[in-house]
Amino acid sequence: MCGIVGYVGTDHAKEKIIDGLKRLEYRGYDSAGIALPINGKIQVQKAVGEIKNLEAKIASPDFDAPVGIGHTRWATHGKPTEINAHPHLNEEETVAIVHNGIIENYQEIREWLATEYGIKFKSETDSEVIAHLIGLFYNGDLLDAVNKAVAEMRGAYAIAAIAADEPDKIVAVRKDAPLIAGIGDGFNFIASDIPAVLKYVRDVYLIENNETVVLTKDEIVIYDENGNKVDREVYVVNWKADAADKADYDHYMLKEIHEQPAVISETLMSRLNPDDSIRLDDISLTKEDIDNINKIYIVACGTAYHAGLVGKMVIEKMAHIPVEIDVASEFRYRDTFIDDKTLFIAISQSGETLDTLAALRDAKDRGARILSVVNAVGSSIARESHDVFYTLAGPEVAVASTKAYTTQLICMYLIGLYMGSTKGTIDKEYYNYMLGELKALPAKVNKVIENEPVIKELAERYHYRDNVFFIGRGLDSGVSYEGSLKLKEISYIHSFAIAAGELKHGTIALMDSDTLVVALATQDKLYEKMVSNIVEVQARGARIIGLAKEGKTEIEKTSDEVIYIPQCADEVAPVLAVVPLQIFAYYVALEKGCNIDKPKNLAKSVTVE
Ligand code: AGP
Repeated sequence: MCGIVGYVGTDHAKEKIIDGLKRLEYRGYDSAGIALPINGKIQVQKAVGEIKNLEAKIASPDFDAPVGIGHTRWATHGKPTEINAHPHLNEEETVAIVHNGIIENYQEIREWLATEYGIKFKSETDSEVIAHLIGLFYNGDLLDAVNKAVAEMRGAYAIAAIAADEPDKIVAVRKDAPLIAGIGDGFNFIASDIPAVLKYVRDVYLIENNETVVLTKDEIVIYDENGNKVDREVYVVNWKADAADKADYDHYMLKEIHEQPAVISETLMSRLNPDDSIRLDDISLTKEDIDNINKIYIVACGTAYHAGLVGKMVIEKMAHIPVEIDVASEFRYRDTFIDDKTLFIAISQSGETLDTLAALRDAKDRGARILSVVNAVGSSIARESHDVFYTLAGPEVAVASTKAYTTQLICMYLIGLYMGSTKGTIDKEYYNYMLGELKALPAKVNKVIENEPVIKELAERYHYRDNVFFIGRGLDSGVSYEGSLKLKEISYIHSFAIAAGELKHGTIALMDSDTLVVALATQDKLYEKMVSNIVEVQARGARIIGLAKEGKTEIEKTSDEVIYIPQCADEVAPVLAVVPLQIFAYYVALEKGCNIDKPKNLAKSVTVE
């Protein structure tokens, strides 16, 4: 996903823009660039590779201005080259733009501009057409030119533009790609995401779809699609200033694993009233609404989908409503039974995953009530939902999701408890018992993290294994899929998750002395069955790392290693069981010298289909 940063103030835009781009590095990129209006012209510098390559090209004090726009590019149309990097210019070099998204009709626009106006394109990108369109319509009014340009475009875009003749202004526009405006004192920002501006501002405007923003150093004006000024509420960011920093950790992923006790507590406690009733005040699910729901769909991708696997079982158990779960890329092509009695729950850390957003839109069109569980404030999925349940995980920078997953689980439990207690399908005793179990989780997660050296040693011992199975039953089965994905995506080891009871139907044929099996046995009522599954795979020579609750020592007789988690209710065990798997994956990848925070081929948010 590309990153946009724009600054308008009284001094060195270059420094603020570069700092902001560095805080968007987690979105993945392969080139970067910056444009500044200097002496009546737009000057642009771009570089392939890391932002430091761009910094080397803009060190001269002559290359600076009080206004500017910058960009980190994740190549979609056109190779990662300097020519294809943003910002892009019109031919006269009087307008520059940066863009996140995809212009679907860029080919026809290119042909029209080339044929009708003889415009010669420099890059292979879709984005370049935006600069030429704005340049074509520009008559001294950048806002007017931007509005005319976007009227010609179809697709998804967050755009920021500057003009040489209006060197005190940035005009930006949003459609289906994230955009926020940072509110300063004597300066203002436009950016793709909050971390880019957090060092300088706490107050932001969340820009909605089809809105245009005009920023000068003293003012931010938002217009709706009809050109009317919008009176937008200020969103005060309550993250700590260093929330998006690595602090003194070697990797963002390790920092975010360690942040889990705090963000689990924050996500839980922010939803509880003094009397321990659950406060979903920005979720308007009344008793009548809940009684009207006869089916629930949970739709997501990757780790968010794995949180849904746990959510399905928990919500069915607590609310007695059938829950269908599907990966978004499959859901969209099924003939699903969705109507106004359906609750559609979209889970997404970034809130920008296109597969999930497309599935949400499909369900919404068919009358479903849309509840999204999202981490990124003001993201597209959040904006297009009827209700949003924010995971208060803070910015998750590492591509491998950890704290977002565990806070998504907390949201699943709260939704289940809220619906169950509202419907009367759970009694007060069970509700209070579950809340007690949830409140005890932060301390128990801390205890699991204290076991890190033991898990690190296991990772060092087994990091060379190239065939790893994760198995479990019930809730452990969903956690197995998450453990397997963590290992796969950061250590590139071939790993596989399967419901333990399914092994005998074919997959056990793969077991041999080279196989490593991580066997989750946290569910009391399934413990005995899991122990027999472990015996089955051990009999075929596999090495076993067992994972069980403290005191369940039977597993030691049939496992080569055992990781224990603190005693807890079966329902909340996934929150504890996943943490050793996160730590194991981290240290295996470290041992293998992999790029832990930015694994090959992966982006933090997949905004393409
Ligand atoms: C998980 O570690 C991966 N980064 C990936 O599977 C991710 O969970 C998936 O792309 C969904 O992203 P989202 O939660 O932002 O929608």
